[in-house]
Amino acid sequence: MLGIIGGSGLDRMDGLEIVQQSSVDTPYGQPSSALSLGRLNGQELLFLPRHGSDHSIAPHRINYRANLWALHAQGVTAVIAVAAVGGIAAELESGTLVVPEQLIDYTHGRETTYFDGVANPLKHVDFTRPFSAAIRLKLLRAGIAAGVPLRDGGTYAATQGPRLETAAEIDRLARDGADIVGMTGMPEAVLARELDMAYAMLAVVVNAAAGRGTNVHGVAIAEIDAVAATAMKKVLRILAKLEAVDGD
Ligand code: HPA
Repeated sequence: MLGIIGGSGLDRMDGLEIVQQSSVDTPYGQPSSALSLGRLNGQELLFLPRHGSDHSIAPHRINYRANLWALHAQGVTAVIAVAAVGGIAAELESGTLVVPEQLIDYTHGRETTYFDGVANPLKHVDFTRPFSAAIRLKLLRAGIAAGVPLRDGGTYAATQGPRLETAAEIDRLARDGADIVGMTGMPEAVLARELDMAYAMLAVVVNAAAGRGTNVHGVAIAEIDAVAATAMKKVLRILAKLEAVDGD
């Protein structure tokens, strides 16, 4: 089954016909919220708002292990992660949607594995290609079907937050090759990999990153919510056109 993890601006999924809500407990504690089992375009899916249904959980405090475990335990084999991001590359203006192909992890102090050699045996997973090629393709095709332009590719930088970055930090991320920056892609992506769930991200640029574009002197935080609200409508249009996704 498909799982959708909603980010900032997508704490609820309008248009999702909710069939059932279930609270799931895991060996790692409680996920961010109850899981909503729903139907979209004839496809059954489970929806989980990453920051909680009232958007109260900060990126570094999200129980990523519980979230991914809960989805997996409920039969999810493929995850689409919707994430609000800052645009680093000049052409990635607010409102642009991106299906990244790579990521770099700058987070710290988060629980990043199930296989820590304590609760479970130590295991190293391959992470060369962090995002599922098959789901990326389906997202790109759904974008075409919905008439919503999507940027194919790019590198996502995961930062610790909850503060935004300094201009110098964004310059460094750009030198590292990052195109977009967000706070939640890791460890989410790797935990999905550890549980053998295919995972891809639909990133929504909600602001120019610090020091970039119109934000040379500071990020206009107040504008982010409005941009996110408009862009998330496009996300829902894309998801409504998604072909069957299962075990990709
Ligand atoms: N930086 C990090 N995370 C973000 C940003 C940003 O500029 N915008 C939305 N999430």
